[in-house]
Amino acid sequence: MARPSSVRTMTSHTLTLLAVLLLTALVGTCTGEAVLEEDDFGRLIINTTDPSQPVLVNGVDVQELQHTVASLVNVARGSSSSIHPCSIGLDTAAFLGHKCETRLVGGDARPWTLAARFSNDGVDTWTWSNYILWSNNELVGTAQGSGDFKGTAWFGQTTDLLFVSDIGEWIAYEDALAQQSLSSLFASVPVPCSSGCPSFAATQQNITSNPDRCDTKVYLNPRDHDPNGQSPTCGFGWSFRYNQACPLDDVGHSGSLGPDSYFATEEQRVLGFLGRDSDATFVELYVR
Ligand SMILES: *[C@@H]1O[C@H](CO)[C@@H](O)[C@H](O)[C@H]1NC(C)=O
Ligand SMILES: *[C@@H]1O[C@H](CO)[C@@H](O)[C@H](O)[C@H]1NC(C)=O
Repeated sequence: MARPSSVRTMTSHTLTLLAVLLLTALVGTCTGEAVLEEDDFGRLIINTTDPSQPVLVNGVDVQELQHTVASLVNVARGSSSSIHPCSIGLDTAAFLGHKCETRLVGGDARPWTLAARFSNDGVDTWTWSNYILWSNNELVGTAQGSGDFKGTAWFGQTTDLLFVSDIGEWIAYEDALAQQSLSSLFASVPVPCSSGCPSFAATQQNITSNPDRCDTKVYLNPRDHDPNGQSPTCGFGWSFRYNQACPLDDVGHSGSLGPDSYFATEEQRVLGFLGRDSDATFVELYVR
């Protein structure tokens, strides 16, 4: 008769113990605990018991600050279609994934934003058959790295142009545009352009001399000026001599940023103002 009673008692004790353990575990996971400690990296950790409780540092609510930053980022993302991000702030621009240039042509006072990269990366992006890329809303690649790229700065109001190669040579065209976007600029010029074609004169540069270079202007959608005229380009082009005389001889093949109507679907290994056979891998276009 004693046996069943003893079993009952043990069972009831075990249940009580289990309940207490379970409750402890639940309290531990659901509500957490306030923490003020230094971690292994020497960082000070401040955690409230309830994650929604405010943490104030000298009266500044950290969570509120976080919400403010998040909404500012949204505003910046929304307005990046007209204002170049690097001119708003370098930290914000970097946070949004943009690449800025601050060393060249007064960039420390008026930073440049990367709009595009024309790279000999083996990918046929900037081609004659894809001429629409110069005027459409398509984006390509990422700002960081060394591959072909076309970013949102392509659609921002632009005044100055800066072409920079990865070997340090660069050429700038200040006041080339009157607050116009590159997309609307290229939408307004025929492909190729035959008469009354826009071109801009260089204002500052760091380029090594090239005996085949005719001049340092940049031309828009230039036609091939040699007698056959088989190699016009689209986009920005520079004037070189190739197998005929200056100017703009076989420009798609000698002074383009890739497109050549003679090889319509292939990106040419030409790097704009550097011409052919350069040691450079890419040319980046910065705007402001
Ligand atoms: C503090 O809270 C964060 C966010 O909930 C959490 O990831 C972290 O592990 C907590 N740190 C400590 C020491 O409690
Ligand atoms: C000019 O270009 C050369 C490469 O030809 C480069 O090494 C140098 O750093 C550049 N200088 C400036 C001021 O950009």
